[in-house]
Amino acid sequence: MEIRITNILKMYTSKRQIYRCIGLMFLLSAVMFTLIQIEHMSSQKASQTKRIERQTGMEKEVNLQNNSANNFWVKFSTEQRMELLTERPKEPTTWDIVSSNCSANLSFLSTEGFTSLDSDFKQFMLYQHCRYFPILMNHPEKCAGAVDLLLVIKSVITQYDRREVIRQTWGKEKTIDGKNIKILFLLGTSSNEGERANHQKLLEYENYIYEDILQWDFMDSFFNLTLKEIHFLKWFSIFCKNTRYIFKGDDDVFVNVPKILEYVEGGKDLKDHFVGDVLFKAYPIRHKSSKYYIPKVLYKKNYYPPYAGGGGFLMDGPLAHKLYGACETLQLYPIDDVFLGMCLEVLQVKPIHHNAFKTFGIVRNEASKMNREPCFFRQLIVVHKLLPPDLINMWRLINSDLVCSKKL
Ligand SMILES: *[C@@H]1O[C@H](CO)[C@@H](O)[C@H](O)[C@H]1NC(C)=O
Ligand SMILES: *[C@@H]1O[C@H](CO)[C@@H](O)[C@H](O)[C@H]1NC(C)=O
Ligand SMILES: *[C@@H]1O[C@H](CO)[C@@H](O)[C@H](O)[C@H]1NC(C)=O
Ligand SMILES: *[C@@H]1O[C@H](CO)[C@@H](O)[C@H](O)[C@H]1NC(C)=O
Repeated sequence: MEIRITNILKMYTSKRQIYRCIGLMFLLSAVMFTLIQIEHMSSQKASQTKRIERQTGMEKEVNLQNNSANNFWVKFSTEQRMELLTERPKEPTTWDIVSSNCSANLSFLSTEGFTSLDSDFKQFMLYQHCRYFPILMNHPEKCAGAVDLLLVIKSVITQYDRREVIRQTWGKEKTIDGKNIKILFLLGTSSNEGERANHQKLLEYENYIYEDILQWDFMDSFFNLTLKEIHFLKWFSIFCKNTRYIFKGDDDVFVNVPKILEYVEGGKDLKDHFVGDVLFKAYPIRHKSSKYYIPKVLYKKNYYPPYAGGGGFLMDGPLAHKLYGACETLQLYPIDDVFLGMCLEVLQVKPIHHNAFKTFGIVRNEASKMNREPCFFRQLIVVHKLLPPDLINMWRLINSDLVCSKKL
């Protein structure tokens, strides 16, 4: 009996253990199941919230576009951006020119009228087909993010003081009312052998400090200004996918940046917008004595297409991308602003004349009161020419508690 009881007890206990075991396993699996479920749910939730975040991100964008009917941001809808990106699928992602080796096109030597040209023109014609050179200083990070206004200033290696003064005054990189402003200087190499070694080292140091210099391996000369133009357009097309506006100008101008922001915010539709001091029906100068003399071999037509003075003009980023493509279809022309007018003509975009851009109008002239009148500068967008000491003085005056009447 006892044995049976103990046996039964043993059986009972072992059965209990089994039950316990099964129960425990059941419990464990239940716990695991709920754990897995919870995890699954939470991950679902996470992806949902992510989706919601993305949606609100998009909604925000749309709202932004809607809310600000005549604002900076309206112009480029998502579709337009996509269009721009798909327009040029074969775009390189980096500066792809590695060799400066470009030999003269000697077949020009036998063309009619070549020998009677000035040496500058000869040089230009012989090297006209050498369009792109390697980049020596690059800043791909400059417009990697969204930039609202990119200030692009043509400069030469020796004009350090002009760049410095611009950085200290109107060209300071900053954010105004949420608008992101960046600056870049465009340079070639020195045309003078003696300058090259010393100044190049200084320039490298300057670039190390300010990180705002693009330099290419072509000689900075009057006739190579067009090279600077197309190098910038190519560079911009590669590196600046998300830049809204570009101000491009010389290093001896005064630029009223808040006024530019005001201008683009007030514009109804700034698509294909190119504005500046525009000349209509300008003609090539045929007097041999002029600095701007253009022989008929180079340009046969009587008039130039409308073009804006290179001293300072404004265009929208997407237009700059298109301009790059348009300029690629043309032979280089030695006058950079005229050349840009030709590219605009290819696109059938008419540059707009605006009185606040004074790149030809105001000559630096003692008799002209306007050159010394700060209220005048407050009304304008670009004023040519202002050298460093004057620029600093004018900057101080404009930013003082100046009282200006509305009309001038
Ligand atoms: C906002 O913009 C979208 C797309 O541009 C448009 O379909 C919608 O009607 C706009 N809403 C308002 C309130 O303007
Ligand atoms: C430049 O190119 C020419 C012909 O294309 C070649 O003969 C010459 O060796 C090249 N020079 C350099 C420095 O690469
Ligand atoms: C060199 O000049 C000739 C005559 O103008 C032209 O036909 C040819 O295409 C040019 N070659 C290059 C490489 O640009
Ligand atoms: C332009 O730059 C290139 C490269 O440095 C040079 O070979 C050429 O002579 C320059 N052209 C003019 C017209 O100065």
